[in-house]
Amino acid sequence: MRTKVTVVGAGNVGATCAQEIARRDYADVVLVDILPNFPQGKALDMNQAGSVLGYEPRIVGTNGYDETADSEVVVITAGRPRAPGMSRDDLVATNEAIVTAVTKEAMKRSPRAVLVVVSNPLDAMCHVARAVSRFPKRRVVGMAGILDTARFSAFIAQELEVSVRDVTAMVLGGHGDQMVPVVSATTVGGIPLAELLTKTRLRKLVERTRFGGGELVSLLGTSAWYAPGAAAAQMVDAICLDQKRVLPCTAYLEGEYGIRGLYMGVPAKLGADGVEEIEKLKLTPDEKKMLRASAAAVREVVSILKRS
Ligand code: LAC
Repeated sequence: MRTKVTVVGAGNVGATCAQEIARRDYADVVLVDILPNFPQGKALDMNQAGSVLGYEPRIVGTNGYDETADSEVVVITAGRPRAPGMSRDDLVATNEAIVTAVTKEAMKRSPRAVLVVVSNPLDAMCHVARAVSRFPKRRVVGMAGILDTARFSAFIAQELEVSVRDVTAMVLGGHGDQMVPVVSATTVGGIPLAELLTKTRLRKLVERTRFGGGELVSLLGTSAWYAPGAAAAQMVDAICLDQKRVLPCTAYLEGEYGIRGLYMGVPAKLGADGVEEIEKLKLTPDEKKMLRASAAAVREVVSILKRS
């Protein structure tokens, strides 16, 4: 039997993620959405794209969950996206109800799956998925750090006019305006970023990264999807192919980085079991302070969850 991956939510992020996974050619993909005909149409289109692009997995679109049974990974993208002027946190009540319903349905059919949460507000929605599923913490993980790091990396590459391939960056913390681009762990071709840019230019890149999602919402009128979809697919690869990648992921912390009982972005080893280890990255005193501020912001959102 082929590996099965379910993506819930056939909107921009979910559909992009589903196609990215299909193109890898190692898993069949089930695309779920409540909108009648919509996931079926997207799946049909993606299957037809396979004959041009040369991938063969079966992509099934459905409005129910029966087809999702025995998925190895369930990616949850369902929920309302941001509109201009909205913060990710403004979505909390609406998306809490949606993520609760989706998690219940998905876990019944795939009790051994790893849940990859993408819906916003991300850190809080990880709490919802974990509370509803009662899965062990390693099997509920959120996608944010890869996306935020991708934005930081892209800005650095543009600023220095170098290939993004040679930028190694890291963004930790909550997926909000207080996220922490870890400059001390960011290098370009092995050279520390702080040696390549003035403090002022550096500060601008850090700020642009923190508001990177908002910049896209104001341009597009809704949330971004290419980078978020690709980032979620990278996590699916790491899990399904047991790659043991060390990637910035939203993981449940129980004392790591001095934070307890909270989902936050940290470097994590991702493999077949989900979050197999949380890696310890040395932070500067300033970065530690920023991480604490980011944790406080996440706690505030988590505290307004109905389930908290
Ligand atoms: C963003 C949304 C997906 O950061 O959270 O673009």
